[in-house]
Amino acid sequence: MSTPSMDVYQNGNGSCCSMAELEDIDFLRPRNLNMERKGSLGERSFSEAQIGFSPYPPSRAEFDVVHSPAKWSGFTTPRSPFASDPHPMIAEAWEALRRSLVHFRGRPVGTIAALDSSDEKLNYDQVFVRDFVPSALAFLMNGEPEIVKNFILKTLRLQSWEKKIDRFQLGEGVMPASFKVLHDPVRNTETLMADFGESAIGRVAPIDSGFWWIILLRAYTKSTGDTSLSEMPECQKGMRLILSLCLSEGFDTLPTLLCADGCCMIDRRMGVYGYPIEIQALFFMALRCALLLLKHDAEGKEFIERIVKRLHALSYHMRTYFWLDLKQVNDIYRYKTEEYSHTAVNKFNVIPDSLPEWVFDFMPLHGGYFIGNVGPSNMDFRWFCLGNCIAILSCLATPEQETKIMDLIESRWDELVGEMPLKVCYPAIEGHDWRLVTGCDPKNTRWSYHNGGSWPVLLWLLTAACIKTGRPQIARRAIELAEIRLSKDGWPEYYDGKLGRFIGKQARKYQTWSIAGYLVAKMMLEDPSHVGMVALEEDKQLMKPVLKRSNSF
Ligand code: GLC
Repeated sequence: MSTPSMDVYQNGNGSCCSMAELEDIDFLRPRNLNMERKGSLGERSFSEAQIGFSPYPPSRAEFDVVHSPAKWSGFTTPRSPFASDPHPMIAEAWEALRRSLVHFRGRPVGTIAALDSSDEKLNYDQVFVRDFVPSALAFLMNGEPEIVKNFILKTLRLQSWEKKIDRFQLGEGVMPASFKVLHDPVRNTETLMADFGESAIGRVAPIDSGFWWIILLRAYTKSTGDTSLSEMPECQKGMRLILSLCLSEGFDTLPTLLCADGCCMIDRRMGVYGYPIEIQALFFMALRCALLLLKHDAEGKEFIERIVKRLHALSYHMRTYFWLDLKQVNDIYRYKTEEYSHTAVNKFNVIPDSLPEWVFDFMPLHGGYFIGNVGPSNMDFRWFCLGNCIAILSCLATPEQETKIMDLIESRWDELVGEMPLKVCYPAIEGHDWRLVTGCDPKNTRWSYHNGGSWPVLLWLLTAACIKTGRPQIARRAIELAEIRLSKDGWPEYYDGKLGRFIGKQARKYQTWSIAGYLVAKMMLEDPSHVGMVALEEDKQLMKPVLKRSNSF
């Protein structure tokens, strides 16, 4: 691809700046990059294989020992003579992933959401920040960090745009939901278009993008040992801007982050406003990653202090009020209401009658999970996959809670995994509730899409959580299920039905994160040390006992 003479960046409001202004920190060669490969770790457990986690308070030791992506029997170009016979789907997946690459000025900067030419594009021709995460992990695990670096720097540039919806200006730190490269063959220019929520259905800003960006920056640093990227003043500032947005003081009485509906993977109205688990878990993970990445200079230190305080409050709050197991269900069932003052047990005045019928059957004897949402007189008892997996990977869940989350997945296999991993949430909302909660959304009908649909991309999160908790056999089972249909069906975005038996009503085919999620899951199973890129070690300080409401964990 030829290098355009002038590139213009443009946002949804038409405000532009020339390439000259942006010329640039981008694409600097890594200074400390050490990609020496070690032998395959084969079946070694995650705890054996993990290296370089730092104790709390944070120290730079985290990245001192380079996490070497062990030999991966890459499939387009097999690298390991020892690897077992690769599944034929892997070569196909790598080819599809490479086809999805998006270039800007001749360099790869991301992957397109879906390469489905048969369907209306909508915004599936864009690079989504959240969708790129599994692609990025696949490239990192395969020893190809450059694209990840390019993506991190390019999205950092987008963050500095002025962001407006109608006449209202968004916070400086907001990261885009997605971006797109526009080619003008006549002027020989390439233009970047980004969406911060001003074009998105529902006009919601993606709170998760900034968190994923920080998490990815840490994954890159962990994987390559190259600290020069995260230490760049621009990256440090980008992180501080994201953190400023979510650590700012306001009217909050809770340490959780107040959100609008649809500000994350579930990007439509689905009753996930308030304090949704997905955002709280990503918030926690991003704070912990930032703690490892922020420099201890004057500006960094100020943020580090705020982060440490918030992590303490947030972990206490989540572990205490979001956690649900059999004992907790029973406690809520017997709650007194209308309690006032500090001595109240039922602090949020949750009415026992609001416990849905399904919870009594769904909750196993051994098992538990973080529920969907907790707010005034409101507990959303739905199980959400992403939030619970991230809670495990970030150690938001205590070791006992981690075990119980995995126990629940095992004992509710038919409901949560069925014939195609993995339910985005459980159960679906139906009938009158569906009308009220979704606003009659025809895409989110029961057991479809965000409303109890099954999303293959979630395989990578499940696999990482399984390996971290020492239960890789659960992931293996799930992956085997996916292998029966995923490729034959053309890598759909999601499946419908109680068991995930049907290709989703409006699912795109060749959805990139379905492809990348599968590859990442396979690579982590083959070399569990890869999980270190997306998992954090338990933090002893944060584990200090909290006043427990339930003694059952
Ligand atoms: C859908 C999903 C969203 C994803 C996007 C692109 O809108 O809800 O999570 O990022 O598609 O794949």
